[in-house]
Amino acid sequence: MAAAVETSAGGGEYLLKICCMGAGYVGGPTMAVIAENCPNIKVTVVDLSQKQIDAWNSDQLPIYEPGLLEVVKKSRGKNLFFSTDIDGMIADADIIFISVNTPTKTHGIGAGRAANIKNCELCARKIAEVATTSKIVVEKSTVPVRTADAVSRVLSVNPGGIKFQVLSNPEFLAEGTAIPDLETPGRVLIGGMQTPEGLAAIETLVSVYAHWVPREKIITTNVWSSEVSKLVANAFLAQRVSSINSISALCEATDADVAEVSNALKFDDRIGSKFLNASVGFGGSCFQKDILNLVYICESLGLNEVAAYWEQVIIMNEYQKRRFSGMVVSRMFNTITDKKIAIFGFAFKKDTGDTRETASAFVCRDLLDERAKLEVYDPQVSRETMLMEMDYTLKVNDATYPNMLDSNLVTATDPYSCAAGAHGICVLTEWDEFKSLDFMRIYESMAKPAFIFDGRMIMDHEALVKIGFEVYCIGKPRGGGVRNGPAN
Ligand code: NAD
Ligand code: UGA
Repeated sequence: MAAAVETSAGGGEYLLKICCMGAGYVGGPTMAVIAENCPNIKVTVVDLSQKQIDAWNSDQLPIYEPGLLEVVKKSRGKNLFFSTDIDGMIADADIIFISVNTPTKTHGIGAGRAANIKNCELCARKIAEVATTSKIVVEKSTVPVRTADAVSRVLSVNPGGIKFQVLSNPEFLAEGTAIPDLETPGRVLIGGMQTPEGLAAIETLVSVYAHWVPREKIITTNVWSSEVSKLVANAFLAQRVSSINSISALCEATDADVAEVSNALKFDDRIGSKFLNASVGFGGSCFQKDILNLVYICESLGLNEVAAYWEQVIIMNEYQKRRFSGMVVSRMFNTITDKKIAIFGFAFKKDTGDTRETASAFVCRDLLDERAKLEVYDPQVSRETMLMEMDYTLKVNDATYPNMLDSNLVTATDPYSCAAGAHGICVLTEWDEFKSLDFMRIYESMAKPAFIFDGRMIMDHEALVKIGFEVYCIGKPRGGGVRNGPAN
């Protein structure tokens, strides 16, 4: 008897079956939106981590992302599935997305710079091992240029002599806005080999996105252009943040106001209006990783001036984080030893619980070095997550900071208890809820003089000054109630 044909919720046979390897910040949301918009496509997200998959199958998703649970619930159990049956789902799929993490290498050649594509290669090896029919393999992870070549070569040594097409389809979603970014993307980029088979594979993937993305927004290129474009897009975005942050230092030294400068820039549509908010520094799992990767690739190709140009974006970001910590110490009379400092925000930006490379961790490390007592409040970050990030990125742990973390790096479950008794507050993530707190109540509960250091430029500084706070922020003129950066 022939095997029963799997049918979609609408009753028809599935048009295509997709398997996504990696159920993280990209794999989960991306596949949920594909499933929502393509009821005739079966989408299964697989991961090595049972815990991760269990969470995707529950109402406590493993990541915090506004609107995500609603989108997942629309399709889960219909045409969207989460599973650890990696082999079975690979064998079943027509298209396999590789959406695994590609962190900066921590050891060996290129340590601290090159991206580690070990996980991508392992996925390719697994596909080559278990596939029994030809498939389109899609790089969704951000990878060094020419990774498609490595993936193709690994795939080509499969026991069954199966032919694979490798496409590059980088993801441009930003955390916190992943769902709108995926529902109405600025563009979808698909790169492939410019052969008849490669072009046919591109068209198949185009047909998936064309379910909801206007055709003119789906850009197709050769595979290397697509790989390079992803690294360059992140480098350009990070460069804008570092550019405006560099100008914040100039503003502090000249009585200009960085908010006014950035507003003046925004009116020039050649410059554009976005990514010009001065801050304590950019964070996130990708900006630094991808620029370091770009720098490493350029160095490897002997393009030393190009490498140095882009490395400056990272150097400026380090400078900005250090400058902020320096401002806190210098403004609090050059000593914060044993002073309680409330840290408002640990996530690398609002509307996410992701703490990877967050600027907040760097400031906490610097303040801990001064022996301050830190209490951290973030609506989406647990103490466990905070400590993991402090350890992974900054090597701040019980061995390197003996007898300190339990007393000097604690978390609070609400902003009021976090600030009570504190000498100062550092606002390090731009959570909306920080703007509407009862700062009179907070002021009354703090040691005096009560300081606020706004690393995100989101607070009503004049109102805080009226209450009695000493307010410091980035890129503001000297004088007036609101003060600026380093002592002057
Ligand atoms: P993540 O760490 O959140 O998720 C990766 C997942 O892959 C993990 O759950 C891990 O268990 C799983 N995994 C690792 N190896 C595996 C294997 N061999 N088989 C199956 N599963 C495996 O990472 P992320 O933030 O989703 O990023 C994934 C990629 O997308 C990276 O290359 C990143 O640069 C890129 N990217 C990320 C974002 C973002 O906002 N986070 C945006 C665009 C692009
Ligand atoms: C970024 C890109 O925006 C996405 O297009 C890309 O897909 C993603 O990286 C990735 O490859 O991982 P993300 O890191 O999620 O997205 O968040 P962003 O909104 O870009 O913010 C990055 C950092 O820059 C945050 O710390 C943010 O606070 C900071 N930032 C951003 C500023 O300090 N000022 C700004 O004006 C904008």
